[in-house]
Amino acid sequence: MTDQSANQMWGGRFAAGPDAIMEAINASIGYDQRMAPQDIAGSRAHAAMLAATGIISDTDAEAMREGLLTILSEIEAGQFAFSAALEDIHMNVEARLKDLIGEPAGRLHTGRSRNDQVATDFKLWVRDQLDAAIDGVQALMRALLAQAEQGADWVMPGFTHLQTAQPVTWGHHMMAYVEMLGRDLSRFRDARTRMNESPLGAAALAGTSFPIDRAMTAEALGFDRPAANSLDAVSDRDFALEFLGAASICAMHLSRLSEELVIWSSAQFRFVTLSDRFSTGSSIMPQKKNPDAAELIRAKIGRIFGANVALTMVMKGLPLAYSKDMQEDKEQVFDAADNLMLALAAMTGMVSDMSANRPALEAAAGSGFSTATDLADWLVRALNMPFRDAHHVTGSLVAIAERKGCDLPDLTLADMQGVHSAITEGVFDVLGVHNSVASRTSYGGTAPVRVREQVARWQEALS
Ligand code: ARG
Repeated sequence: MTDQSANQMWGGRFAAGPDAIMEAINASIGYDQRMAPQDIAGSRAHAAMLAATGIISDTDAEAMREGLLTILSEIEAGQFAFSAALEDIHMNVEARLKDLIGEPAGRLHTGRSRNDQVATDFKLWVRDQLDAAIDGVQALMRALLAQAEQGADWVMPGFTHLQTAQPVTWGHHMMAYVEMLGRDLSRFRDARTRMNESPLGAAALAGTSFPIDRAMTAEALGFDRPAANSLDAVSDRDFALEFLGAASICAMHLSRLSEELVIWSSAQFRFVTLSDRFSTGSSIMPQKKNPDAAELIRAKIGRIFGANVALTMVMKGLPLAYSKDMQEDKEQVFDAADNLMLALAAMTGMVSDMSANRPALEAAAGSGFSTATDLADWLVRALNMPFRDAHHVTGSLVAIAERKGCDLPDLTLADMQGVHSAITEGVFDVLGVHNSVASRTSYGGTAPVRVREQVARWQEALS
């Protein structure tokens, strides 16, 4: 088939025929150029090792080193002409090295392959993202800790089913997110520890007959050790999947906090005021201040979890070792990482800037019979009533308050004694929201003293 007939069959934007289509599907340079710094770092480590083991001369290694540094500065200055015909970042860099230093450039690929090269580059890139995620999560935790410390004893309603349940403290609610993010932090750290083995020197799939020193390149690139099986080393993308898995859970946490901020900043709740810096106005309704940043963060889980699913599907069923399918690993991870970092930064800004509306929180904390459990507990403690009976008596009192249109602390002692004659004045001590939260001193409970302990523990852990 000539190009001419191919054109007529396929037409459209691939005017140049099958060669252009092949280049378009095959080339990854459009996105893998992001890994240029990692690619050059890997090549520098490899070149130094080839010289140290006597595989190439010191002169050639020095020429490679200088050439690679020149290429890095060209790329950083935006002066590098990436070529799709050269497929990917690895071949673009090598071709430019040939322009710059000539024949010795051809010796750089001794004892390695693009398969271990791309695995190394991608691992280094993902490792940087794990570090950035660790920093980003900690920054957000610090912002939440500051909120928690300030409002350790501010009361607010705690919810189950989004219905008023029991009073809690603002600090306690903030610290719940600190705990979630603390698990994210440990997942990112854990993934980093497990992934930190070097694929470089696994070569195409079987290792190499050259007397390379894999421990030397591993060390130069900050890996803990070389990966122990060359087939696995070139075909493993678990590290990217673990990053995406941890990122998905973290993004899910961010979406929950976002949702609360959206609800809390509404006119119906007024629990928080978000700063203008993280809100927008409406083009038509002058009164509006929309929590756009929170809404966008709430949505980020879509693409981040999407990337997780996509890469899992790419890897599913692939035989050992490298297959070109694996070139489809990068764009999704790049996008997920960019958006996770952005979401973490935006959430950190939003949490740092927001102000809790203490009177609104306190007013809401007392409504909805939120201290009914405290009343039942008092009946158990003061009257030695079985909890089930106390629950029943409390239910009757709530019904009376509902009929009278008041809250539990507004009932009279006569109302109380009408339901159970042994109830005394002492019951009113437990019906206030401040007493309620102060009494919940069990480990992990909402009492301000417990909250302050947790704030101190996390401040220490993050310092
Ligand atoms: N651009 C390729 C990728 O991202 C590099 C590895 C190519 N290896 C090969 N055997 N064709 O996966």
